[in-house]
Amino acid sequence: MPLIEFKKVSKIYKMGSERIKALDEVSFLIEEGDSIAIRGSSGSGKSTIMHLLGFLDQPSSGSIQFEGTEFSSLNSRERAVIRSEKIGFVFQSFNLLPRLSVLENTLLPYVYQRHPESKVLERAHTALNKVGMGNRLNHLPNQLSGGQKQRAAIARALLNNPKIILADEPTGNLDSKTAAMILEIFESLHHEGRTIVLVTHDPLVAGHCHRQMIVKDGKIESMELR
Ligand SMILES: Nc1ncnc2c1ncn2[C@@H]1O[C@H](COP(=O)(O)OP(=O)(O)O)[C@@H](O)[C@H]1O
Ligand SMILES: [Mg+2]
Repeated sequence: MPLIEFKKVSKIYKMGSERIKALDEVSFLIEEGDSIAIRGSSGSGKSTIMHLLGFLDQPSSGSIQFEGTEFSSLNSRERAVIRSEKIGFVFQSFNLLPRLSVLENTLLPYVYQRHPESKVLERAHTALNKVGMGNRLNHLPNQLSGGQKQRAAIARALLNNPKIILADEPTGNLDSKTAAMILEIFESLHHEGRTIVLVTHDPLVAGHCHRQMIVKDGKIESMELR
């Protein structure tokens, strides 16, 4: 069974009287352990695919299955459980909360529990050590470089030990040397057996992934092995 399957998935955004077809009957499979780079020009539909992959938004039509379960058969609570237990998100803009320390940001998925269990704390420390941030626990985001912010964001994405990591232009705000270090982290996560999907403009970044999906005008133009 594939990890994720899209069958003829379309997404239409409505803005007032305007309808924007962001995805047009897109079909593809993601197997467990895949690493996929999604490329395509601005506005081609890459982020829309990522939002749908991560259950952050719903398709206008078509079928999305996660481990054989049809998205439309789940209620919002069930979708939230899959999101938090199976999927880790990393964004171009890091999305760290400015008043929280690195450790607190990493624990954000547990923010509603006043005293995080010791197991969760241990997992946060492990994740921060893995991305080389074990010595920056009490720093605030504005005391970090861009690369360090992205490391903290990756640690947060790892907290629940997700099967799949979705990263939307994770190196878009980083210089090329820092970007290369962040990519090494994604490669090591892939070697651990995690499925990685990342959006990038950079062919060099894409070259690190096993498959490349090129998106154009809301359709898949090509899907090729490296
Ligand atoms: N929330 C939204 N409301 C309306 N239109 C949107 C929204 N998000 C994306 N779009 C439009 O959908 C198309 C695809 O956008 P997006 O998936 O963000 O592209 P990419 O990530 O490849 O730059 C674009 O034309 C964009 O303007
Ligand atoms: Mg985008």
